[in-house]
Parts: sequence; structure tokens; C-alpha cells
Amino acid sequence: MAKLVINPEKQVSKIQKEIYGHFSEHLGRCIYEGIYVGEDSPIPNVNGMRTDVVEALKKIKIPVLRWPGGCFADEYHWKDGIGPKGTRKKMINTHWGGVVEDNSFGTHEYFELCRQLGCETYVNGNLGSGTVQEMSEWVEYITFKGISPMADLRKENGHEEPWKIDFFGVGNENWGCGGNMNPDFYANEYRRYQTYVRNYNSQQDGKESGIKKVCCGPNADDYEWTREVLKTCFNHCDPSIHGHMDGLSLHYYVHPEGWQIKGSATEFDEEAWYKTLSKAYYMEELIRRHSAIMDDFDPDKKIGLMVDEWGTWYTVEPGTNPGFLYQQNTIRDALAAGMTLNIFNKHADRVKMANLAQMVNVLQSVILTEGSDMILTPTYHVFDMYKAHQDAMLVESFIDSEEIGLTEEYRTPNLTESVSLDKKGNLHITVTNASLTETYPVDTHMIEFSAAEVLGEMVQGEMHSMNTFENPECVTVKEFTDVRITENGICFNIPPCAVLHLTVKRKV
Ligand code: AHR
Repeated sequence: MAKLVINPEKQVSKIQKEIYGHFSEHLGRCIYEGIYVGEDSPIPNVNGMRTDVVEALKKIKIPVLRWPGGCFADEYHWKDGIGPKGTRKKMINTHWGGVVEDNSFGTHEYFELCRQLGCETYVNGNLGSGTVQEMSEWVEYITFKGISPMADLRKENGHEEPWKIDFFGVGNENWGCGGNMNPDFYANEYRRYQTYVRNYNSQQDGKESGIKKVCCGPNADDYEWTREVLKTCFNHCDPSIHGHMDGLSLHYYVHPEGWQIKGSATEFDEEAWYKTLSKAYYMEELIRRHSAIMDDFDPDKKIGLMVDEWGTWYTVEPGTNPGFLYQQNTIRDALAAGMTLNIFNKHADRVKMANLAQMVNVLQSVILTEGSDMILTPTYHVFDMYKAHQDAMLVESFIDSEEIGLTEEYRTPNLTESVSLDKKGNLHITVTNASLTETYPVDTHMIEFSAAEVLGEMVQGEMHSMNTFENPECVTVKEFTDVRITENGICFNIPPCAVLHLTVKRKV
């Protein structure tokens, strides 16, 4: 019997809702087809945005959406994507499939999408191939409410009122596709570019703009990048400098068989199952070690670690454009998502945002589309259950897990968990079981908390279970009833290949 101990009296940190964020790039069929079909499309839409996709995303309470990339961001020139659609410049999307980008989805369309979703905005600026002036003018165009060249241009283009930028990324992967810079060079560039990401309205109304600036952080385990960039960009002796950085990004993808081969999304054996989940769990070490470096500069945890790209990355589906990164999604991805989100929750004191890559039709998507059809992936259903953690308070918890796997090298905890307390005083417990074969009984001891009622829901399946356009409801959220209240807490049996969410109501 595994033991799970929960201490609701020990409140660790608020789980920022932005940890449940998403990412949409001009890549493959993410934006075009997946989200934006245009106003004249026979697919039902509001101002060009697919109604089915928007409604599904609203249900999981998508808190924030990153755009326009990715590698695309450092080649994106925002002025190409404003004004009458017929006159917008066409360009080659050199990173992703060499297709023509007609810029019909630009700044106005992105803010309209976020309006429909009711989510925060995260705009990623171009530091790799754009100028300081271009970045500065984009912020002016979007946010300035007075009279200025860029604000006037926005008004001419039909939007009188400014929009709000919640997060602004100053470059993307500048160690790679964003300019192949070394950390020292990037860090100085960051200092320069971010200076001109201005709070345009404050001189008029004295209010802070609230733009949170995100500095390009490391690729996976590049700890040197983290240290070097912070050395130049973060100075804890000078409070004015820390105000220039609100977050440092981290990118990490799971490739089961490595970057070159990757591996199939749907055809895999037991070894690849455990390898994938072991690599997903590696996120824990990455966060712990990057956080330790951040603690050296920022012990008060004023800047967040923003994991603004994460997810599984497999070989593309046979017959699809290799540059479109389209992959299916199985219960293995649900496990990878459940484990990773538990890790983020448990590091809520440092992880302030995360963005799954990517929202629709690219990599570990929550939604797949084919023409007018749409399916929700197993990963979607995990986000649906875990939304209960958004803005709740992480409480101390511990589960006595064991490492499982078929090889010495790739082992993963059989069980992971995280627990939060919501505003109504209910506990939310999310647990994953990575085993392909074992059901685990879990005896939960809750300190100073008496349960009045417990409700369960679960995403579970066989090793290869997935949703297809022919069978879209194979993996969904189902009611879970194998749980009972005990003297000290609750007791439940979690089956193999499962992600579980329990809501425990307090006895008053
Ligand atoms: O998400 C796909 C790509 O992965 C992004 O464009 C890039 O930032 C990362 O390498």
C-alpha cells in the first residue's frame, strides 16, 4: 500500500494559473486551419476563429497564449501582418515547411483570438533578425492609447483602443534558431532591447503597464546559459535592474529515441513507454537545478522560471509534411502531461508560467483538426481535470513512490502527485500511475483535514489508447469511484496508465 501524506496547513505557494498556458506558432496547421479559417470559411467561425476550437479551449480555461513563435518569432516582422489583408506581404516560412505565409493572421487577429478565449497575452518579439526600433514600435502599436505614429496606425487599421500585453518575450531560443548567440552576447542584447519595451501609458496615467518581460533562458540542461545570462541581466544589488526581467524561459522537449530518430507517436513498445516517461520526469531535475542557479541571484524568487515550450516531440505522422510537426497523441502523452504538470505545481514557488507546445495540430496538441472535424486528445482531458489547480494554493504533500522501468537507464516514479487547496477550501489531488501493469492502492493521510465527500475523475486507457477522427471518444474524462473516506483521510486504488483527479470536500 503506497502512502500519501497531505498537510493542508502547510501552504507552499500559489499555483499561478499561467502554468496551464499554451503556445501557438505559425507552424504547419496550428494557426491556419487549426485556429484561424477566415471569415468566409464554411467552418463555423467568429471573425475567422473556429468556433469549435475556441469553445473547447474555453472549457479548459486556457489562461495565456504565447504567439507568434517559436523560431518563427525571430523572423517575424509585425508590420507585414497589419492593414488590409489583400495588401499584406507574403513571405516564405523558412523554418516550417517552406510554405507561403500570407500574414492574414497578424496582431489584430491574435488579440481578437485572446479576446474570444478570455486569456492573457504573451507576445514574443523578434530580437534575432529584427531591430530595437521594430520591437519598440510593436509595443507602441499594441499598447499606446494617446496620439503617436504607431497608435495612430493602429486606429487607422480599425482598432481605436489599445490592447494589453501581459507577457513579452525578448527573443526566442537565441542560443539556436534565434541568432545562434552565445550567452554573453545575448545577455547584452537583452538589456538593450528590453529597455525599449516601454510602459507607454504610465506617463499619462501613472499606472504601470504590467508588461512582464521574459528573457530567453536555456535549452534543457544548459546550466551555463542560465548562469551567464543572469550574471549580466540580473543584479540583485540594484533593484532597478531586476525590474527589467520578470521571467527566464526554459525549453525542454521529450524525444523518446533522441533528437534525430525521435520515435513514433503511436507505435511503440513497453521500453519506449518507460523511456518517454522517464525523459518527461527529467523536467523535475531541470527545474530543480535551474532554480538553484536562479536562487543564487534571486533568493526572493522575484523572477519566474517560464517553461514556455514543453511537451513530447515524435516523428511526424506518415504522409504529412515533415516541417509541419503533426503528431498523434495517446494515453502515454496524457501520462507525460500529468506528470509534468504535477512537477510544475510542486515547483510553484519558482515556475510562474508554462506553455505546452503546441495548442492545435503541432507536437503535443490538445486539439487535432481535419477539415471541419475536431478531436480532443488525451492531453486535452488532463488539462481539463488539472484546471482545478489554477490559482489554487499548493499544499505540502508526499507520496512514497518507487522507480519502475525496463532498463537501468530509463526509470521513472510509478506514482507522482500534487495537491492544492482551492478558494472554497476543497482539496484537489492529482495522481499519475505510469505503470503499464500495476494497480496501486494508496492510503492517504490528511493532517488536520476531515473529508466530508470525495469526488473522482480519471483519464485512463491501454498503452496505445488514443482518439481518432473515427473514434474520437476512446479516451475521455470518466467518473472514478474506487475511493472511500477513512478515519485519517481517504483510500483509493489507481489503475495502470492513469491520471486521476480527486476533489475532497472538507467536513465543517
Ligand atoms: O515548437 C517547435 C519549435 O521548437 C519552436 O519553434 C522552437 O522554439 C523550438 O525549437
